[in-house]
This record gives sequence, structure tokens and C-alpha cells, in this order.
Amino acid sequence: MSAMLEIKNLSKTFNKGTINEKIALDHINLTLNEGDFVTVIGGNGAGKSTMLNAVAGVWPVDEGAIIVDGNNITGLPDFKRATLIGRVFQDPMLGSAPDMQIIENLALAARRGKRRTLKWGVTKKEKEDYKEQLKILDLGLEDRLTQKVGLLSGGQRQALTLLMASIQKPKLLLLDEHTAALDPKTAKKVLDITKMIVERDHLTALMVTHNMKDAIQTGNRLIMMYNGHIMFEVSGEEKKNLTVDQLMKMFSQAAGEEFADDQSLLNK
Ligand SMILES: Nc1ncnc2c1ncn2[C@@H]1O[C@H](COP(=O)(O)OP(=O)(O)O)[C@@H](O)[C@H]1O
Ligand SMILES: [Mg+2]
Repeated sequence: MSAMLEIKNLSKTFNKGTINEKIALDHINLTLNEGDFVTVIGGNGAGKSTMLNAVAGVWPVDEGAIIVDGNNITGLPDFKRATLIGRVFQDPMLGSAPDMQIIENLALAARRGKRRTLKWGVTKKEKEDYKEQLKILDLGLEDRLTQKVGLLSGGQRQALTLLMASIQKPKLLLLDEHTAALDPKTAKKVLDITKMIVERDHLTALMVTHNMKDAIQTGNRLIMMYNGHIMFEVSGEEKKNLTVDQLMKMFSQAAGEEFADDQSLLNK
């Protein structure tokens, strides 16, 4: 098994030297092997999004290294990481272009990071391929190829963004509460699509969620973050058999007695 993502001794402080100074990541270490699907939980402000943003290269980190498939990408700007990393955010409005057609969005995603050639137009074969991909989503989008993305529902847009983020089979898929803005039924559908794509394409993924049940039932590893640290990890059989109650107990024990009654830490 080879490491697909190595996060080494990673630290990030916001507003250093000011009254608003915040240590968001405090010497984090995490390794994902090829095909690992890691769910990330933790209360508001624990550092979950900061960890994903650091991997995506949104801003420079203070200390540490990020290595993707053997390449040290710590100093690379985000656009140079875009072919390695696919992302889906919480906001369905991000990640796809509303004024462009479904097919144009998919074609752009398929060409991201690639050199423009004379063959910029969408070929017949591509069109068939996109139709096939959209059909699998089971949202009826395969018959709406030329419709503007801005007309889609939040769930349809997240599903499309998932397709776009994974269309080039990225080394790493980053999902930051990508179902949180959706109603429960749609959220489940998008999560099911997520699991299907990750499994089918054998992707390596990090998924932040505030739904502990989803965190337990998705992927092969679960990590709990708190205060810029990874507190603990659960994987394999232990993760499969975990209950939300047990997870809460583990959190309380790791965080210390003062948090024993504060279950709200995990819930928004
Ligand atoms: N761009 C930023 N500028 C200043 N502070 C930030 C920024 N991003 C995150 N933070 C702070 O870092 C901490 C961790 O935030 P974040 O990673 O977004 O938490 P989570 O995703 O776990 O809820 C919080 O205190 C947050 O306010
Ligand atoms: Mg967040």
C-alpha cells in the first residue's frame, strides 16, 4: 500500500501577533493510503476546514509538509494542485458555473489543467460519456445536457459538482460538509452518490461531516478533531460497530472531564 496523502507536522495560525490570533492547526500528522476514505468530525472551529484548505493550497501554511502521491506540494499555489485534487464545498453555489450548461461544466472540468487544443469542442464520444455518467446519478440530468446549471436544485448541483470533481480521477477528493446544506432526503442521495463514485473510481477521500452517523457509516477510517488537533482515530471493525453514543464518550474522555456534559460541541 502506498501513501496517497501525507500531512506532516502541519501548523497554521490565523492573525498571528494580533488579539485575534488563532492556532487553527497545531502540528497535525495524517497519512492516507491509496483508497482510504476518511471521515472527519469535530465541533465548530476544530480546524476541519482549515486542514482541507491547507491540503488544497488556499493559503501558505506556517510549518510542515503536504505530500500527495509522493510529490511535495507544500509550496504550490492551489491552481497548480487542481489536477491532483478534487473539491466539493458545503455551498451548492460553488463548484459549478451557473450561467453555463451542464455539458459545458463537465467539459471544462474534464479539461482542467490541460493545455487548450484546437479540439476544444465537445466530441460525440464525450457527450455520450457525460450522458452515461449523469444517468448513474439517477436525477434525470442526462436529458438536460444543455440546460444552465443555475436552474438546478441544490442536490442536483452537488451531485454534478461531485462528478466534475472526480471526472479526472484526482489523487485526492476533498469534501467539506458537502451535504450539510441539503434536506435530509437529498443529503442521503448525494452521500450515496459520493460513496458510489469513491468506490467505483477507487478514490482516496477526506470527508468532513457534522453528522456522526454519516461519519460512522461512510468510509474506512474516522478521525475526531478538536482545537487544531486530531484527537483520535477509529477504523476497521471498531468503526463499523461504533455507535454515536460510544463516539461521544470517546470524545469526552479524550477532551477531558470539563467537556463530559457538553455534547453540543459536536452538534451545530
Ligand atoms: N481565513 C481565516 N481567517 C481567520 N481565521 C480563520 C480562517 N479560517 C479559519 N479560521 C479560524 O480557525 C479556526 C478553525 O476554523 P475551521 O477550520 O473553519 O473550523 P471547522 O471547519 O472545524 O469548523 C476557527 O477559530 C476559525 O475562526
Ligand atoms: Mg468547516
